[in-house]
Amino acid sequence: MARWQLALALALALAWSARAALPEPRCPPAAAQRCVCHSNRSNDEIVSRPFYSRLGEFSYSVDGSRLLIDYIDNKHFKLDCFQNLTLDNLAMPRFESEVRVAKAVLKDCPTPRGSFGAVLKRFNVLVKDRLTLMIPAGTVTPTHLSELGNVNTLEIKQAELAPGTLAAPIGLRSLILDRVRLPPGELLQLPTSLQRLELLSVGADVPREVLERLPKLDKITVRDSSNVSVTPTGAMKEMALDMTAVRIPSTLPPLLHTVTILNWDDQWPMPWTSCALHTLVLHGVTAEELPAGWISNCKNMSILKVQDGKQLRTLHATSLSGAQDLQELYLTRCALTALPAGLLDDAPNLRVLDLSNNYLKELPSGLLVPTSHLEKLLLSKNKLTQDVFTLVQAVHSLSELDLSQNDVRDSCEGENRYQPGLSPWHSLRFMTTLNLKKTNASQICRDWRESMPLLRTLNLSQNKFTNLKFADLQFRSTETVLVDLSGNDIRKLEYKQRDYNNVIDPDANASKADVKLDNSLACDCKTYWAARALQERPMHLKKLAAGCARSQAPRDIHTVALDTLVCNATDLCKDAPPGCACAVRDSGVPSPAHLLRVDCGGAGLERLADLLGPLAAAAKRERVALDNYVWQLNLTNNRITDLSAAAFPKHLSDLDLTNNSLTLLREDDLRTLLADSTRRVRLARNPLVCNCSAAATLTLMQARQAALDYDALTCANGSRLATVRPLRCSRGLDAALVAAVAALVTLLAAAALAGLLWHPALRLRLKVVLHQRGWLPALADQDDDDRRFDVFLSFSHGDERFVRDELVARLESGPAPYRLCVHYRDWVPGGWIPAQIAASVRASRRTVAVVSAHFLRSAWARAEFQEAYALALRDARPRLVVVLLDDPSALPLDDKLRSYLSTNTYVRWGDPWFWHKLRLALPRSRGPLAGNVPLESTPPDAVTPEACSESAASPLNSASSTPGRPAARAQAVPV
Ligand SMILES: *[C@@H]1O[C@H](CO)[C@@H](O)[C@H](O)[C@H]1NC(C)=O
Ligand SMILES: *[C@@H]1O[C@H](CO)[C@@H](O)[C@H](O)[C@H]1NC(C)=O
Ligand SMILES: *[C@@H]1O[C@H](CO)[C@@H](O)[C@H](O)[C@H]1NC(C)=O
Repeated sequence: MARWQLALALALALAWSARAALPEPRCPPAAAQRCVCHSNRSNDEIVSRPFYSRLGEFSYSVDGSRLLIDYIDNKHFKLDCFQNLTLDNLAMPRFESEVRVAKAVLKDCPTPRGSFGAVLKRFNVLVKDRLTLMIPAGTVTPTHLSELGNVNTLEIKQAELAPGTLAAPIGLRSLILDRVRLPPGELLQLPTSLQRLELLSVGADVPREVLERLPKLDKITVRDSSNVSVTPTGAMKEMALDMTAVRIPSTLPPLLHTVTILNWDDQWPMPWTSCALHTLVLHGVTAEELPAGWISNCKNMSILKVQDGKQLRTLHATSLSGAQDLQELYLTRCALTALPAGLLDDAPNLRVLDLSNNYLKELPSGLLVPTSHLEKLLLSKNKLTQDVFTLVQAVHSLSELDLSQNDVRDSCEGENRYQPGLSPWHSLRFMTTLNLKKTNASQICRDWRESMPLLRTLNLSQNKFTNLKFADLQFRSTETVLVDLSGNDIRKLEYKQRDYNNVIDPDANASKADVKLDNSLACDCKTYWAARALQERPMHLKKLAAGCARSQAPRDIHTVALDTLVCNATDLCKDAPPGCACAVRDSGVPSPAHLLRVDCGGAGLERLADLLGPLAAAAKRERVALDNYVWQLNLTNNRITDLSAAAFPKHLSDLDLTNNSLTLLREDDLRTLLADSTRRVRLARNPLVCNCSAAATLTLMQARQAALDYDALTCANGSRLATVRPLRCSRGLDAALVAAVAALVTLLAAAALAGLLWHPALRLRLKVVLHQRGWLPALADQDDDDRRFDVFLSFSHGDERFVRDELVARLESGPAPYRLCVHYRDWVPGGWIPAQIAASVRASRRTVAVVSAHFLRSAWARAEFQEAYALALRDARPRLVVVLLDDPSALPLDDKLRSYLSTNTYVRWGDPWFWHKLRLALPRSRGPLAGNVPLESTPPDAVTPEACSESAASPLNSASSTPGRPAARAQAVPV
């Protein structure tokens, strides 16, 4: 089993076992009719849903009403009642044994007859911490809350309480009342165990008597849409008030350490007289000024937030003095226009200073001098200028700086204030976060990349960046740096060729940058090296998200076709026919990077020279060496008829001639065109001539399919070129008619010549010439009429059955039987085989080689082929006929055979015209051999094999005293 299958099986098994182990609420067996479970965790669901999604959801209908239970072991039990289902219904589903959860929620269920505690018990659920009741209908009575057992926190939402209800949950530590309607005086009933009390939109005052009854109360939170009064008491530690307008007394209870006020309505606040505050958060401030010595009595103040003070314009120089321990100061979303210089003099331990969202034009010099621990300086959304740089420069402890949305512009250039390329923060070694969003910056400073070893976030979004260089992305932080450059109109991502070379060097250091760009790049020749580097070695950066601006598909720079990354070269195409466009990419030497693309799609071209001529002229004028470029020539949809006149560019990688008017391609032209093995040529939708006159071209096309769109090529008659068998006219058996006509013409011509040329010597010479050229095949038969056999069958033992049953049976029968020589019948047993081969080939007018996989494996069969081949060459006439038993492409042909097959006729077994073609390839039969001498009748004194030789006195037989007649030659043929 594959590893992943194993993993999947394991996961399923785990899911199954988890399912088995998890308890689930089931309908009581006794109420099977009334309670139906719709979806428990079926196996299907576990497989088809991600494990985390609503895994614990069960739905039921009980007495026709819907019920939803959401249960996650140990975590929560949530009950959703629909349609007034009452909790007292005994047909409700339940767990078989007790389950424990931290939280339980009963939502939209009407109040039960007994207590909620009893209801949960019936479900078999034990709540360990928090119970939430959302009761839109019905009144909650003391009985309902009487048996809450372990519940620490009780949250009641949207309910109406009967008098005395709040006294019921004895031992409760936290109570949250949210939109609950209380009877008058009910707060006086609160259990004395309460530590936290939250009153949300309850609309009740919290007078001193209520809080005094609660000695353990630490924190009170009151949020109301109207103003209610809350009077803090002595023991209280935390207070959070959110009302329309809150006023707090200037004397605070001695233990109160944390106060959060929303809508602090104190226009002229006074300094606190007694204050033990540790944290003070004031939102919605109406004050216009923080007075002198405002928190001077709050010696423990550590965190101070004053936010949303639309009127707060000034701070008194001493408003923060006295708070020696101040660590975090937030004065945000106020109307501050300036700060007093000594504001932080008493805050040496300040770690966070957030002044964002004000109207600060500058910060007083020396403001940060007292602070030697400042880590975060947040100055976003002010009116600051570069003047702020000097202030920041000295804060060596700084790790986070936010200057976003201030017009501070580039920090590492201009006015020679700093070392070129370095920002004022180049010595801030602890910097982790630099936010320069919307600051009109346009440069990435060198020090951010090289001397901030802890940098993790660099926000440069929505700035004025227009181009990026390779070096800009080389970050040497030990952390991954998120470089956000989105919202910039970055058109150029400029890598030089040497940058690319660096990148693909396997030893090169990868940059730690995780860069985010918009899809704004101009994907042209200038982006080429970047795209190539990113595609070939994406890991040279942690990550880069970028795409092309134009609607190129796909737009991602990681997948954009490198070929398309070129720039217009209008000058080159100036004189070219209208409709032609030139584009280049330069890199100096001929390579795919040094590209010239000429696109003349549909330009009405008829001759290639009309394009190449003007191009060459323009190149000369522009001093462009066209031969150095690798060309892509797109000539689709033109009317080009001829390739031959074209002087093709030296380096041509693509030639698209789809949909032109090319008919007969000359083999030589095509061979030249395809000489470069990496070249791709498209010729689809041309009316190509596919008859025998194109045989050589078609054969070449077949051999070089990969360089062409071979499968898309069609002949003029519409048939697919791949289905056409290339056959030669002169010997093409398919073109028998053409051959016959040719033969007839030849005959007539010969007759005419014969009439003219009465001189025998002249006649003979002419005939010889004609024969040697193979122009008189029909007459050629006569020349070797004196050979004993018509055909020597050369085959491998493995194909003997085919030869015997098919070839011999057919060729030796019929009205014109052939004289065949077959070794199994006509050879001398025990004879020296090479000699027999030679003798048989010579004694036969033709040798038919039955070529098959067997044949190619048989050494003897190959020897016979060699012999016949040699003889054919010597006699310069077709002595060899190949019968192919298998598809040539399936055979391991050697070079000799392959070249023979590519230039000569062969007959495929299985061709419907097989016998017809074979007979055409053979000489005219002379009828059965008169006095055929079988092997047995060979004269006993013959010591050499002779079966198929011309006579007993074989010329091969050196021992023979009678020299045989030499094999007749063409010269001997009488006219
Ligand atoms: C639920 O009960 C209330 C009051 O008893 C009634 O007004 C409402 O129509 C009931 N809803 C359904 C769906 O039965
Ligand atoms: C480049 O040429 C093409 C057509 O020839 C044109 O559509 C495109 O706008 C040109 N691009 C530039 C950058 O000139
Ligand atoms: C040539 O252009 C046509 C459309 O103009 C396009 O379909 C074809 O792919 C192009 N050929 C090459 C090789 O890019």
